[in-house]
Amino acid sequence: MALIAANWKMNKTFNEGITFINEFNKKIDDDSSNDILICPPFTLLNEIFKLKHEKIKLGAQNMYYEESGAFTGEISPLMVKEFCEYVIVGHSERRNLFKEPNQWINKKVLCAVNHGLKPILCIGETEEEKKKKKTNEVLETQLKACLKNVSENQTKQVVFAYEPVWAIGTGKNATPQEAQDAHAFIRSLLTDMYSQTTARPLKILYGGSVNTENTEELIKQKDIDGFLVGGASLKVESFMEIIKKAKK
Ligand code: PGA
Repeated sequence: MALIAANWKMNKTFNEGITFINEFNKKIDDDSSNDILICPPFTLLNEIFKLKHEKIKLGAQNMYYEESGAFTGEISPLMVKEFCEYVIVGHSERRNLFKEPNQWINKKVLCAVNHGLKPILCIGETEEEKKKKKTNEVLETQLKACLKNVSENQTKQVVFAYEPVWAIGTGKNATPQEAQDAHAFIRSLLTDMYSQTTARPLKILYGGSVNTENTEELIKQKDIDGFLVGGASLKVESFMEIIKKAKK
């Protein structure tokens, strides 16, 4: 079963979000074998939680690693947990625009699993790192730093997302082979860090310009277990088509 996640980023006002979910609910196929996840802005979590079809799961796009306190503008795991099963951590936009270091992302992963949330841990190389053939090195550094002190049992709660930074929002997706190689490498790292029994069933999503045209080829790859979709998740039609085409 694939996991298809929508990352709406900083898009959709309240009314736009409600219109989407009402239309989307009607198109959900009860036999659909995929897990469907929507990560809207925080302002929509409460209402979408109330309106959504039961097959849709909810996720937050970010979270702080403290339960409460003087952290203006942040949101806590206790607040996220009221509506969400998942939370995205370490997205490249958080890393690059908001300067989040691996140490914070590590604290967020630990905080999420300790509160029973499933973190979607994003890792990926920049264009420059890819040109210098440093993809594996970057993936290893990010993965190991972000999973520091995360036990084997806790790792089972984590979803991984390979998101090459050069592919995000650019229309340039990784080729199925490039994505497969990165996913296989991530799984081999997880096997070394934990065990094969733990690593094999872990979900590794691909993200970066996923669209209705490239879904089928990407999902055929052995180690691609689903997608984190940005731009193409903003329209009901394209997101639904991706879900339908992403049969594992
Ligand atoms: P994109 O974004 O599909 O618009 O490239 C993916 C993501 O950043 O999660």
